[in-house]
Amino acid sequence: MTHIAVLGSTNMDLVTYVMKAPQRGETVTGREFCTIPGGKGANQAIAAARAGATVSMIGAVGNDSFGLRLRDTLEHSGVDTDFLRTVEGPSGTAHIVVDDEGGNSIVVIPGANGTVDHLSPGDEGLITSADTLLLQLEIPLAAVVAGAEAARRHGVRTVLTPSPVQPLPPELLAVTDLLVPNQYEAITLTGRTDPREAATALLELVPEVVVTLGATGSLYLARGVDPLVVPAPRVTAVDTTGAGDTFVGTLAVALAEEKPVHEALSWAAAAAAISVQRAGASVSMPYRPEIDARYTA
Ligand code: RIB
Repeated sequence: MTHIAVLGSTNMDLVTYVMKAPQRGETVTGREFCTIPGGKGANQAIAAARAGATVSMIGAVGNDSFGLRLRDTLEHSGVDTDFLRTVEGPSGTAHIVVDDEGGNSIVVIPGANGTVDHLSPGDEGLITSADTLLLQLEIPLAAVVAGAEAARRHGVRTVLTPSPVQPLPPELLAVTDLLVPNQYEAITLTGRTDPREAATALLELVPEVVVTLGATGSLYLARGVDPLVVPAPRVTAVDTTGAGDTFVGTLAVALAEEKPVHEALSWAAAAAAISVQRAGASVSMPYRPEIDARYTA
């Protein structure tokens, strides 16, 4: 079975559902408040595990009740947490407002994720035994770079989600195989205004790029092949939180299983389409039979 390692964050998502997100200085009454396990790293780990891979999570939770629940949620989806440390202090939290169109805004407080600033020898051993390493930017950059470098030394494919978006150092780009920004991140990273131009600029830095385009689908560029535009299924979104993570986790499984790229992108889009029709990040992610049922070639 495909083995995917994830080096990244776990957050408890503190989610407020509201008709319309408040402007600065405005007070509004929301509909509902929920705590839902999330974090870009944990979300991608859960998506990949539910899509059928063996998945190991490297990161940290705090020694609070959120930490216990975050670990438990990962384990219930079959993610190995032997390398998920419990550290003194609070777990990461994400403060999320979801509006009636399913759009969101998020503020992340790193908490325990901020302690993941280096790799232990065990972490490195785990990475080097995997087929693919998934990375995001919700833990200190030094650990992201160290993880990607370890993966590259051992021929493990690296997939980077550049979120929250920040300038990417050359040493990280040099060891990134596949970069998966959303269109906002692609535009921010390159200064271009058009997603295709942004993707083309990014392709000068890494060998493969997928720009996710929300409800429109995704755009794939690789050196020496024609660009692919793969549409997403049309659905009515209730909560888009974690949709990008669902896409990346599922895509990583498909690529590791050597599905053709077009099929892999469609399969990942089917998973993301299922997730946006349900509330919450990790809890909305589909299992493989649901993805297969929704997937259309
Ligand atoms: O990508 C969605 C995730 O971003 C949420 O689960 C939240 O924790 C933030 O990290």
